[in-house]
Amino acid sequence: MKEGKTTHFGYQQVPVEEKAGRVAEVFHSVAARYDVMNDLMSGGIHRLWKRFTIELSGARPGQTILDIAGGTGDLTARFSRIVGPEGTVLLADINESMLKVGRDRLLDRGIAGNVFPVQADAQYLPFPDDTFDCVTIAFGLRNVTDKDLALRSMLRTLKPGGRLLVLEFSKPQSKLLEKVYDQYSFRLLPVMGKLVANDADSYRYLAESIRMHPDQETLKQMMEDAGFVDCEYHNMTGGIVALHKGIKP
Ligand SMILES: C[S@@+](CC[C@H](N)C(=O)[O-])C[C@H]1O[C@@H](n2cnc3c(N)ncnc32)[C@H](O)[C@@H]1O
Repeated sequence: MKEGKTTHFGYQQVPVEEKAGRVAEVFHSVAARYDVMNDLMSGGIHRLWKRFTIELSGARPGQTILDIAGGTGDLTARFSRIVGPEGTVLLADINESMLKVGRDRLLDRGIAGNVFPVQADAQYLPFPDDTFDCVTIAFGLRNVTDKDLALRSMLRTLKPGGRLLVLEFSKPQSKLLEKVYDQYSFRLLPVMGKLVANDADSYRYLAESIRMHPDQETLKQMMEDAGFVDCEYHNMTGGIVALHKGIKP
């Protein structure tokens, strides 16, 4: 019997066509507690990682920006202030639970006029060619089934000269840090997930999916293969997180 293609969902192998549904379950489940868990898990450091992403975006008033896998809208909120009333920010995510939390949160903070929530899949972006000055994907690429397809889709929708920024967990640069981080991820994280979000499995998936994600050099090569130029990355917190940048030629 011919077997279908499989891919990884954390450490499990699942049929390719099942992965998106499994990822969707994770984010439906964590949406309501997502922000509080982010602060708790990272000790608030995710705010610094995101601040650096904004700095490197070079965003300016009047620009058009896509924050794909934007979730609860941390980057979107910051971009909204920068691009101002003449600019536009699309908060896009495949998951309606995350988008709903994001939209409500932005409204509560009085951020609305230039932000448009859109349900969209990073692999098949429903936007014309050459639309965006900047595309960001923060802690999202890891969850996408076909990352090459998503990178090419982002390239297509960027304007020539536009930038892609990929903020994602990556590979710690020292063995000692890797050991400590493994203990933290596989022992503490699921317990925190259970206590705060009543969901140990989703936070176990988080730890596993991080280990399955391409390391710094591999992702840089993938971006070059997709057609980006001037690709570079910056390690943060010892490489636990890396910010990759690429330009559409
Ligand atoms: C860890 S959250 C990151 C949210 C936000 N960017 C942040 O940094 O806080 C990952 C997000 O990726 C979204 N996602 C997963 N697969 C996706 C896909 N194929 N296309 C678009 N979004 C996707 C999930 O729904 C989820 O909201």
